[in-house]
Amino acid sequence: MKIIDLRSDTVTYPTPEMRKAMFEAEVGDDVYGEDPTVNRLESLAAKKMGKEAALFTVSGTMSNLTAVLTHTRHGDEIILGSEAHIFWYEVGGAAALGGVMMHTVPNDEKGRLGLQDVEQAIRGKNIHYPVTTLLCLENTHNRCGGAVLTPEYTREICELAHDHGIKVHLDGARIFNAAVALGVPPSTIVKDVDSVSFCLSKGLSAPVGSVLCGSKEYIERARKFRKMLGGGMRQAGVIAAAGIVALETMIDRLADDHANAKRLARGLKQINGIKIAQKTVETNIVMFDLSPELSASEFVDGLNKKGAKVGSRVGNLFRAVTHRMISKKDIDEALERIQSVCQKLQNRG
Ligand SMILES: Cc1ncc(COP(=O)(O)O)c(C=O)c1O
Repeated sequence: MKIIDLRSDTVTYPTPEMRKAMFEAEVGDDVYGEDPTVNRLESLAAKKMGKEAALFTVSGTMSNLTAVLTHTRHGDEIILGSEAHIFWYEVGGAAALGGVMMHTVPNDEKGRLGLQDVEQAIRGKNIHYPVTTLLCLENTHNRCGGAVLTPEYTREICELAHDHGIKVHLDGARIFNAAVALGVPPSTIVKDVDSVSFCLSKGLSAPVGSVLCGSKEYIERARKFRKMLGGGMRQAGVIAAAGIVALETMIDRLADDHANAKRLARGLKQINGIKIAQKTVETNIVMFDLSPELSASEFVDGLNKKGAKVGSRVGNLFRAVTHRMISKKDIDEALERIQSVCQKLQNRG
């Protein structure tokens, strides 16, 4: 029985082409800037994002923390969404290691922050206040069901921040999903932000890695913070090689994941006991609620026994993420397994 793992797109394994590229990678000591494969990945990433320079890091978390450290000083305040990954799932690193206060404003269901909310959150010149130096956005938005921020919205909110002398960092862990959904190059979406991080190890299927992009001067400073975090790698070309294959071959196919997510949502809607928790499925994430009469833990156990996995959120909220290792047929099979578990729980109740 095939395990159908819909917990996250991070469960994707490297492709045979990636493994071959890793085996054959030309390497050097990257702390000396001498790994040709890392250098190639960084210039490819910068080019794709339309930024001057890029920095290869171990993870999305490390890229985001490096970004925050590079943009701020201890005691500053950063503004970010109430549902932001940086706020929820990065172990409070920005506060613990960056010494910044995280000032949240509500995310709407499309992952946006209200312009007025952001403007009100920006601290004025008052001796009692910390200094606001950074606004963080997220695209696609994980906790908002893979919602996509449009280039128009991004431009508007960046303009607001910049008018107040505030920099903007975009957590673009799934920026290629946004680009594919919008049908535009990622550089169009990130044109107005000062820095952007994206992940190679999610839908793009590389085993490890993320890249932070920005101006040459910014990335030079970020390189030092990455080193401070212990992220100075040596013959990192071995993993960067897979990242290059990811960027060269894995982007267009994300459209299949989006189609599968829509198919999954359509099927889930038909299942008694399940309600889709988002208005539209824009990319590869589907959030759904299990009816409150049914037990979330029994649902998960039942699914596990049937060889299907979804991500638990709070209470009866779940997340299913489509990815390269899930076919259209797997979606139909997963729906059957979910339907059968729901039915069993209902019959018992
Ligand atoms: C939006 C977003 N940002 C950052 C990250 C962190 O990435 P990593 O798991 O590589 O640290 C994730 C991971 O799921 C994410 O979804």
